[in-house]
Amino acid sequence: MAEAASLLAPDAVVRTFADTSWGDDGATREVEDIVESGHVLAFPRLAFALADSERRFLDPRWADPAAKNVSLRWPAGELRGAAGAAAELDDLRRMVVRYAEMSETLALRLFPHYRGHLRRGNTSFRPTDVAGRIRSWRQDDTRLHVDAFPSNPMQGTRLLRVFCNVNPSGVPRRWRVGESFEAHARRYLGSIGRPWPGSAWLLATLGITKRRRTGYDHLMLQLHDRAKADAGFQSASPQQRVDFAPGTTWVCFSDQVLHAAMGGQHMLEQTFYLGAGDLAHPASAPLAILERLTGRALLD
Ligand code: SIN
Ligand code: FE
Repeated sequence: MAEAASLLAPDAVVRTFADTSWGDDGATREVEDIVESGHVLAFPRLAFALADSERRFLDPRWADPAAKNVSLRWPAGELRGAAGAAAELDDLRRMVVRYAEMSETLALRLFPHYRGHLRRGNTSFRPTDVAGRIRSWRQDDTRLHVDAFPSNPMQGTRLLRVFCNVNPSGVPRRWRVGESFEAHARRYLGSIGRPWPGSAWLLATLGITKRRRTGYDHLMLQLHDRAKADAGFQSASPQQRVDFAPGTTWVCFSDQVLHAAMGGQHMLEQTFYLGAGDLAHPASAPLAILERLTGRALLD
C-alpha cells in the first residue's frame, strides 16, 4: 500500500508578500536570505497586466506544436517556438520583452546584492495547458524535481526564476513543493555513483553538452532523474500543494526548490543566471551543500 505524503507546514516553503508594484516603489527588498534558503517568494497581488490587444495571445495556437514553449533568447531577444503572421509575432514579442524587463526590475529590487551579476536567460510564454503536455518521465514536470538539464551543465551557476500566472479565466497554476535541498540530497547521494572517467570530456567533444558536465552537474542531473523515477518519493515524501492564482507572481531558485507543476495554463517565466560566488550566502547553495555532503570539490 502506498504511504501517505507528510504535509509540510504552510510557510515551510512559500513566503507571501503584499507588493502591488514591479518597480522600485514596491515594498519588499533585500530578501536574498529568504530566497537563498530555499523559499518560494509569492506575490499574490503582483499581476502582469496585458493590454486588451494582447489578450488574443492567451491561446495555445501561438505555440508551435513542435516546441515546448514560446521563448525569447537573450541577448539578441529573438522569438522562438511561436506560430503566426510576422506582424502579430512582433506584438507577441513585445509582450514577452516587457515581461523580461519587469522581471529584471523586480529581481534587482528584491535582491540588490545581485546587481551587476544577474544575467538574463530565456523568457518563456506558456499558453499550453500543463495537463496536455505529454512527455517522457524525465521531461514530466508534474513529478517533483530540482531543475537540471542534460545538455546544459550549469557548473554551479544558479537558476533564479520569476513566474507569473496570466490565466484570464481564474485557473490557478497548481504546484507541489517538497523537502529541503539538503534533505533531498541526503536521500539519494549514497546511491549515486561517479561518472565514467572521460565521459564529461566525451559529452562536450561530441556536442551533447554545451560545456563540461562537472561533478556538480552529474549529481544535479542524477537528483533530477532519481526523484522523477521514484514513485514512492513522489507520493510519500514531505510536500505541500500550492495554488498560484491568476495575478500572482512567484520567484525561486528552481535548482534548489523541489517543485512540480500539476495544472494550469497561461504563464510567463523569466530565467536569470547567477554565479554561485555572487550569492549573499554561498554556503546555502546546492553546490556548497553537495560539496559538504560528499567531502569533495565538484567543479573540477
Ligand atoms: C517547472 O519548472 O518544472 C514547470 C513550472 C511550470 O510550468 O509551472
Ligand atoms: Fe522545473
